[in-house]
Amino acid sequence: MNFESGFLSRLKRAKKVVFFTGAGISAESGIPTFRGKEGIWNKFKPEELANFDAFIKNPDMVWEWYQYRRKIVGSANPNKAHETIVEFEKYFEVTVVTQNVDNLHRRAGSSHVYELHGNIEKNYCVKCRTHFDIPFSEEPKGVPVCDCGGLIRPDVVWFGELLPHDQYQGAEEASEDSDVFFIIGTSALVYPAAYLPEIARRAGAMLVEVNIEATEISDRCDYSFYDKAGTVLPELLKALTSHPQN
Ligand code: OAD
Repeated sequence: MNFESGFLSRLKRAKKVVFFTGAGISAESGIPTFRGKEGIWNKFKPEELANFDAFIKNPDMVWEWYQYRRKIVGSANPNKAHETIVEFEKYFEVTVVTQNVDNLHRRAGSSHVYELHGNIEKNYCVKCRTHFDIPFSEEPKGVPVCDCGGLIRPDVVWFGELLPHDQYQGAEEASEDSDVFFIIGTSALVYPAAYLPEIARRAGAMLVEVNIEATEISDRCDYSFYDKAGTVLPELLKALTSHPQN
């Protein structure tokens, strides 16, 4: 893969770099994306599984679906793309802002991760809000109940729910402050997360997209690289470290 010298020079001058990631970065770990032919929302209806009313109406079904997804996530491992982002910490102040709930950035070893849509390995009680960080994989079938009598739900953001305030605020500040803002493996269709690239762009960051195909955001990016994240990122790191200092 060829990277323009102007692009590499600008990247090399950067101090603060944000990696804004979506389901596509975990595709090479075997975790399905949401949209597209093989996407989760092509097979399941979000209104039946990923909103609070659905959970109250049919908690066991929603819980079982999340248990099924936890199994997939639990047997997946971080891939070259997650690992290369950790490597980038040797050269930049790196912040990861992810829409993914799969915990793979943390498992890969990224130091600063904002999780905009929660974390599938965590749970909390809908009544007393107690958090349970241990996955309920050993539980019998059906939704577990807290000591207070409340149902325990996955700690993920469902449709119609607000993003965790501290996570979004931290992500917004990092975006505004970034010199380079990578957009990796996301269709950039879901808001408010999808505001972040625009916030970064207006604050002067260089926007760089990595995706297997063009997206809604491609037109606004300074550079787009159309290939798998697990291919582009390691090649970029190699090019960066062998590129002469300007
Ligand atoms: P999508 O499924 O909408 O988009 C995945 C993107 O990854 C697409 O643009 C693909 O082209 C791209 N892609 C697939 N494989 C790739 C690879 N190996 N390398 C690089 N790119 C690849 O997933 P998200 O954008 O993450 O929200 O979806 C955003 C939100 O919608 C999710 O967080 C979830 C969903 O509903 C909630 O659950 C709240």
